Amino acid sequence: MESSTKLAVVIMAAGKGTRLKSRRPKVLHEIGGKPLLNYAIAAAGQVVDPAHIYVVVGHQAERVKAAVTATGVCFVEQADPRGTGHAIQCAREAISGYQHILVLSGDVPLIRPETIEQLWQFHLAEQAAMTILTAAPEDPTGYGRVLRKSADSPEVAAIVEEKGLTAEQRTAREINSGIYAFKTAPLLEHLGKLTANNAHQELYLTDMAGLLCAAGERVVAFELAGAGKGTAPAAEVLGANTIAELVALDSTLRAATANRLMAAGVTIFRPETCVIDAGVEVAPDTVIEPFVQLLGSTRIGAECLIRSYSVVENCTLGNNVLIRQSCVLAESTIEDGAKIGPFAHLRPGSKIGQDAHVGNFVETKKATLGKGAKVNHLTYLGDAEVGEGTNIGAGVITCNYDGVNKHPTRIGKGVFVGSDSTLIAPIVVEDGAYIGAGSCITKDVPAGALAVGRGRQFTKEGWVAARRARQAPQDQKPRN
Ligand code: UD1
Ligand code: CA
Repeated sequence: MESSTKLAVVIMAAGKGTRLKSRRPKVLHEIGGKPLLNYAIAAAGQVVDPAHIYVVVGHQAERVKAAVTATGVCFVEQADPRGTGHAIQCAREAISGYQHILVLSGDVPLIRPETIEQLWQFHLAEQAAMTILTAAPEDPTGYGRVLRKSADSPEVAAIVEEKGLTAEQRTAREINSGIYAFKTAPLLEHLGKLTANNAHQELYLTDMAGLLCAAGERVVAFELAGAGKGTAPAAEVLGANTIAELVALDSTLRAATANRLMAAGVTIFRPETCVIDAGVEVAPDTVIEPFVQLLGSTRIGAECLIRSYSVVENCTLGNNVLIRQSCVLAESTIEDGAKIGPFAHLRPGSKIGQDAHVGNFVETKKATLGKGAKVNHLTYLGDAEVGEGTNIGAGVITCNYDGVNKHPTRIGKGVFVGSDSTLIAPIVVEDGAYIGAGSCITKDVPAGALAVGRGRQFTKEGWVAARRARQAPQDQKPRN
C-alpha cells in the first residue's frame, strides 16, 4: 500500500433506503448481527487508517453517526441527499488533499479488504482516472450496467442505470458494484458537471464514467474474479436495497460463518437453521444441533453440546459444557463441564462454576454458582452467590427485591437448601448449613446449623368422618 495520506476511503451512507420501507436508515439494518455500515467500515479499515475514512451521512445522520462513531472514522454531511454524485460533491473538501480515493457503498457489506486492495492496485497500474469494480452475477436486475468500449478492453465508455437501459443493453451482465477508485484531481475537475437529468432526478456518481471518458480521461473496469471465502462469486458485491436482498446477504454471511466454524472442527447439524453471528468463536469438537442461535461475542469451548432451540448471546462457555434444549443464555459465563437446562434462563451476570448443574425452569440473574453446585428444578436465584457443592432444592426462591431495592443472598459451601424455601434477602447462609423444606428464611443461618422456618403441622385423627357426620342433614334433601 502507498503512503496512507495519499489515499482516502469515502463510504456513501446518506441515503434513506426507500425500498426497505423502514423507519431505520438503510445502512443501520443488520446482517449477521451487525449494521451494514459496520462491514464497509471494517473492510475499509483494513486498507487505510480510520482517520482517512470519510462516511457520508445525511438521512438520520445523528443516528448513523452514533452507531459507528466508536470506529474512529470521520464524517461528511450530506444534509439533503440528492444522489451518489451529490454525496461525493459534499465530500469535496474532505478529499481534496488526497491523490486518490476509494468509494464504497454503505449498503454493500460483504466486500472483502483483499478485493479493495486488488482494485486499488489495478487502478494504480492502469493509471486510470476512474476504476469501477464490476461483477457478473446470475441476475443483474436492478444494478447499473458497465458498458466497455469493447468486450476485451478494460476501458469503459459509460455506466447506465437499470432504468436508463435500452432493450439491447438490458442483456449486458456486467454490473457496477458501487465501489470505485478515483484519481482525485480529474474527479474534482469534472464533478460539478453532473446533472439530474434521469429517472430519479438525482446526481448519479455513475455518470462520472461517461463524463471522464468524454474528457479524454481513462476509465476502466476491474472485474471481480474468484469467489470470496465461503461465499458465491459476486456475492461480495451484492447490495441490500430490499428486505429480501438483506435477508439473502444475511444467509450468505451466516453460511460463511458456519463454514468457517465447520472447517475449524465444529459440527453444525443443519447449519441453514442456525443463526450464528459473524463474531462468534467455537472450539473444535463442539456439536451444535439444529435451530440454535449463537449471537454477539459468544465464545464456546471444545467438546460442548448445544442442543436445539437454545439462544446464546454474548456468553463465554468453557469446555465440555452441555446446554440442553430451549435454554436462553445472555451475558453469562459457564465453566468447564457444567450442564444447563432444558428450559433454563441465565440472565446477565450469571457465572456458573465448573461441573455445576442448572436444571429445568431455573432462572438466574447476577448469580454465581460454585464448583459442582446444583440447582436443578424450578428456582429463581437473583443477586445470589452459591458456594461449591451446595444443593438448592426444587422451587427455591431468593427474594432479592423489596419493591425498591435489590438485596444480595450469600449461600456458603456444602449447604442444603430444602425444596420450596424462600430466602428473604439480604441474607447469609453459612457453609454446611441445612434448611428444612418449605422454609421462609428471614435471619442469617450460621455454619452447620439447621434452620426451619415454617408453620408446624398438626394432625387430627378422625376429623374427616366427624365433619361428614355434621354435614349429613343438608346432604339428604330429596332428589328428583
Ligand atoms: C448504485 C449505483 C448502481 C450500482 C449499485 C450497486 C448509482 C446512481 N447507482 O445504485 O449503478 O449498480 O449502486 O449497489 O450510484 N447514498 C448517499 N447519498 C445519496 C444517495 C445514496 O450517500 O444521496 C448512499 C446510500 O446510502 C447507499 C449508496 O449511496 O449506501 C448507494 O445508493 P443506492 O441508492 O443504494 O444506489 P443503488 O440504486 O443501489
Ligand atoms: Ca444500493
